[in-house]
Amino acid sequence: MRESWETDASIAWVRVHQVPDHAFFDHSVHLNAGVGCQSCHGRVDEMEVVGVVEPIAMQWCLDCHRNPEEHIRPKSEVTNMKWEADETWLAQRSEVAAALNPPMHCSGCHR
Ligand code: HEC
Ligand code: HEC
Ligand code: HEC
Repeated sequence: MRESWETDASIAWVRVHQVPDHAFFDHSVHLNAGVGCQSCHGRVDEMEVVGVVEPIAMQWCLDCHRNPEEHIRPKSEVTNMKWEADETWLAQRSEVAAALNPPMHCSGCHR
């Protein structure tokens, strides 16, 4: 950080999460569906050094796609690290989930 400040050069981006080129992943559709950052990246706000908390593997993608209901929240809360489901949300969650259609077919993620 000091070096960057002194030399006016951007801090090099050290990638932590990386999906291989042969699989397609896009954030926007997940956030629009109400999957919070925390569901995939963990409590980044409490990490001294950011690490991977969920395996970035096909099985992980499929596990959620098969049954996304437990992993969604109101869209207004996607970036809220401290959010927890309350009664009001639990009462409407399954209806919201029913409108989602995450791909399970190979070409959904391998294009
Ligand atoms: C459905 C799971 C999922 C959600 C939700 C999600 N991410 Fe990600 N994120 C990923 C995956 C998978 C990658 C790797 C993508 C790639 O390689 O193209 C990634 C990569 C990133 C990176 C790239 C940096 C790195 O080096 O790891 C950042 C920054 C990031 N996500 C921030 C966010 C933020 C902020 C939110 C919430 C607004 C969010 N993500 C929500 C799965 C998710
Ligand atoms: C925690 C839950 C969750 C995880 C983990 C997750 N997804 Fe999804 N994904 C969803 C939901 C929910 C949708 C459906 C969105 C809709 O129907 O509007 C979706 C939709 C998609 C779509 C279809 C939309 C599009 O952009 O074409 C692709 C592709 C996709 N996910 C790829 C991935 C990949 C690849 C991974 C793993 C690296 C992954 N997802 C991990 C929940 C998840
Ligand atoms: C929800 C997204 C998703 C769907 C659907 C999906 N994949 Fe994948 N797949 C991935 C991701 C992400 C990876 C890279 C991570 C990994 O290797 O686990 C991957 C990796 C692979 C690999 C490479 C494994 C390796 O060892 O390098 C093969 C082969 C593969 N998928 C085949 C398939 C087939 C066949 C189907 C359909 C039956 C399928 N995938 C459906 C997301 C998906």
